[in-house]
Amino acid sequence: MPAPRAIILAGGQGTRLRPLTLARAKPVVPLLNRPFLAYQVALLAHHGIADIVLSCSYRVDDVRAALGDARAPGLTLTYVVEKEPLGTGGGVRYALEQTGGGSGLVLVLNGDVLTDADLGAMRAFHDAMHSRTTIFLTRVPDPRPYGLVETEADGRLRRFREKPAAEEEVTTDTINAGIYLIDADLVARLPADRPASIEREFFPALIADGVPCFGFTEPAYWRDIGSPAAYHLAQVDLLDGRVRSPLSPPGSPRDGSWLADGARATGARLEAPSVLGPRVLVESGAHVGPHAVIGESSRIGARARVVNAVLWERVHVGAESVLRDCVIAADVRIGAHAEVGAGVVLAAGAVVPDHARLSRP
Ligand code: GDD
Ligand code: MG
Repeated sequence: MPAPRAIILAGGQGTRLRPLTLARAKPVVPLLNRPFLAYQVALLAHHGIADIVLSCSYRVDDVRAALGDARAPGLTLTYVVEKEPLGTGGGVRYALEQTGGGSGLVLVLNGDVLTDADLGAMRAFHDAMHSRTTIFLTRVPDPRPYGLVETEADGRLRRFREKPAAEEEVTTDTINAGIYLIDADLVARLPADRPASIEREFFPALIADGVPCFGFTEPAYWRDIGSPAAYHLAQVDLLDGRVRSPLSPPGSPRDGSWLADGARATGARLEAPSVLGPRVLVESGAHVGPHAVIGESSRIGARARVVNAVLWERVHVGAESVLRDCVIAADVRIGAHAEVGAGVVLAAGAVVPDHARLSRP
């Protein structure tokens, strides 16, 4: 059985991830100093899927620039760019058409889910059930912001309900994980001339028409990184080893942390698990970690404290400042003796004066 082709849906605007996505496209926000899509490309490659189409519309140049380093021998990345956003369904149809169409099996992956899902086991299930569309399912405590999926005992899809508005429609905690195996012949059912939703149109219509479609459930790590809190937690999970990822942070391991080339922390305390990007400078007396992720060329001033925080590239933290449980985008300047507290998210280029106290209301 040939490996399926893959389409990664990476054209959303990332509205819920603002202000982080004001300066960078959601599919390439950094996780442990690597662009997010690199994790998905690595997951696909790990399962022998080498032919990968990136379905983009918003900020494609960002995606292209950031993903350059994710190329590996034997891997083909093709960019398909929508002139206007075509939605999750239109995006799949357009991506297939632009890359030669044809039949076979297509694996579709939402561009914002961090997972170690066993795609090989999903494929084996798909084939064994003679399924024509298989959706990877996962369970979450609050299913309302997702696509709710009800199945029969054998896994056959009974109902797909995207983001139900009414409380009485919340009938299950099993949701669409944003990973599909689709018989490419079915993709022609999606409209060619307008935006379309795979969740609101394609899946419900397949079920209504009695096309054999199944849900595949198996325990796996899974998180949609589409909000700042989830984006932060995903990195804590990676640091704590809760995600089996074939990808490690740039650099080499040291005492439970990762140090990239040119990172220096002489006279400072680095508490694992943490990650220092290329050319990071941690000055003397500073205490970084646990769960600190410091982006390329950032600088942590003398006696500063950084704990459970994600800093993007070129962030400067002044002497004796304290950063805790926060996410700081690129090029932020934080003065000396400042405090940045739980849940704070700073947009790229923000300036925090000396002695300022920032916390979420
Ligand atoms: N190419 C393209 N064009 N991609 C798009 C477009 C578009 O117009 N709109 C959204 N996408 C991409 C996004 O970049 C994202 O990777 C994926 O499609 C899903 O869009 P989200 O906006 O993140 O959707 P969601 O998180 O609210 O819901 C979806 O994911 C859930 C799991 O995380 C749905 O598929 C739910 O059913 C599912 O439970
Ligand atoms: Mg999402």
